[in-house]
Amino acid sequence: MSASAMNTAGINAAAINTNAGQPLLRVSNVTVRFGGVTAIDSVSFDVHAGELLGLIGPNGAGKTTMLRSITGVVRPTEGDVSLEGSSLSGLSIDRRVRLGLALSQQLVKPLRNISVIDNVALAAGAAKTVSPLRALLNRSDVLERGQAMVMLERVGIARHADESPAIQPLGVLKRLEMARALAQSPRLLLLDEPLAGLNTKEAHSLADTIADINAQGVTIVLIEHNLGEVMRICKRLVVLDNGRRIAEGDPRTVMNDAAVRTAYLGGDTLADQQQGGQAAPANVTTATAQGATNA
Ligand SMILES: Nc1ncnc2c1ncn2[C@@H]1O[C@H](COP(=O)(O)OP(=O)(O)O)[C@@H](O)[C@H]1O
Ligand SMILES: [Mg+2]
Repeated sequence: MSASAMNTAGINAAAINTNAGQPLLRVSNVTVRFGGVTAIDSVSFDVHAGELLGLIGPNGAGKTTMLRSITGVVRPTEGDVSLEGSSLSGLSIDRRVRLGLALSQQLVKPLRNISVIDNVALAAGAAKTVSPLRALLNRSDVLERGQAMVMLERVGIARHADESPAIQPLGVLKRLEMARALAQSPRLLLLDEPLAGLNTKEAHSLADTIADINAQGVTIVLIEHNLGEVMRICKRLVVLDNGRRIAEGDPRTVMNDAAVRTAYLGGDTLADQQQGGQAAPANVTTATAQGATNA
């Protein structure tokens, strides 16, 4: 960087230099207790810029609590979460959203009496306006609607733009929720079980969309029970069980890890499933998705 750039950019340029080589997000020894329940027990992991990281584990493992700790909905009892080297401790949810965190929730709740595109335009406006209500009431925001249409195209539901969310099937609502998160121009998109409730074909297609969004430069943390799709689109996984991080690494190594197999299926069932000589991901999906659902 030139001296003049340093002079004009000032503190920002210095901050960027300092943060070079840092992970985008660092979770350091985070512990979350709810009364007597330890939902997360001293968990650490990094998320690198550009990555699509899978965060998996059986029901009750602490995955959702981890995402909530990152966005500030839950305050860790111990430990720290930092974005490019700066601690997020003490920052409000709103502040974290402005710093670039976006959470796409497990439950899909659009505003039902405005159109699909206006739901996204509202999210785009809310990213810039202090009051979401003000963003909604500002009818001149052609720019937001233009951006919203781009987001709807990115998630593949542009044809439903002018329809009501009330008549949309779950698959469209999930894409709408993702478009709303993307409209905030996040640096880190946190997805909590986006494939849940979808049939095999819909899940495959939405997983492709998630991989596309990542390929376009959005860093993503994906919580998902559909391990076949997770293994197909993620290059690295972090596995939680009972609040602890029990494994981390590339999908195939992680899935062959004894602790992971025990956590999901209570023993060697997963290995048995894989002995058929078929592609492991398909078998893993069936076995573990059902195991997780029934858990
Ligand atoms: N607000 C809360 N109050 C009390 N216990 C909670 C709360 N949220 C989560 N838990 C508990 O923390 C553990 C982890 O839950 P959660 O993060 O939802 O797991 P996952 O998303 O992996 O299924 C569970 O035992 C759950 O019952
Ligand atoms: Mg959960």
